[in-house]
Amino acid sequence: MLAFSHCVLVFCGLHLFYSQADACSHPYPKIGQSCYLLNYERVTWNTAYMRCLSYGGHLAVFETLDELLLMSEDLKKRNDRRNFHIGGRNINRHISGGDWRWIWNGKMIKMNYYSSGPGQPNGSYAKPQDCLFINSSNVFDVRCDYGNRGFACEK
Ligand SMILES: *[C@@H]1O[C@H](CO)[C@@H](O)[C@H](O)[C@H]1NC(C)=O
Ligand SMILES: *[C@@H]1O[C@H](CO)[C@@H](O)[C@H](O)[C@H]1NC(C)=O
Repeated sequence: MLAFSHCVLVFCGLHLFYSQADACSHPYPKIGQSCYLLNYERVTWNTAYMRCLSYGGHLAVFETLDELLLMSEDLKKRNDRRNFHIGGRNINRHISGGDWRWIWNGKMIKMNYYSSGPGQPNGSYAKPQDCLFINSSNVFDVRCDYGNRGFACEK
């Protein structure tokens, strides 16, 4: 009897897990295996970060290159030429080239690939550009207080 109820619980757990991974709840469309929401309100990176949290998500992080490529291809396919803040940030300007991390859920996950365009990121200690944005051509760094970008939330 004990073993039986245990199995039922495991089965329920798996079922919940799969149905969550399969469906992206409205208004988050599914791109690849993740759920993203592109927001066209133009704000600074910090504001974008807060907005995504208040929507119950977080600023989009692309821990693997395939996630980034899928987002990029989706923007191209829809001919969307706008710019969107994403959850990447330089946490140490004192290091040449910076120390780039995905900021998410209290973590600072080290970026293990770099997919920015030629000459990017090009911030420096004197001219900091510590925040990342994406558009259909690539990933770029920009001043964090630059308030003229939309943003991509993930849930
Ligand atoms: C993406 O942003 C870069 C840097 O601002 C810009 O040079 C490029 O033209 C943008 N791409 C598109 C498709 O707008
Ligand atoms: C970094 O590159 C971008 C795109 O080419 C350019 O618009 C920007 O002025 C550059 N920033 C610095 C600090 O060189």
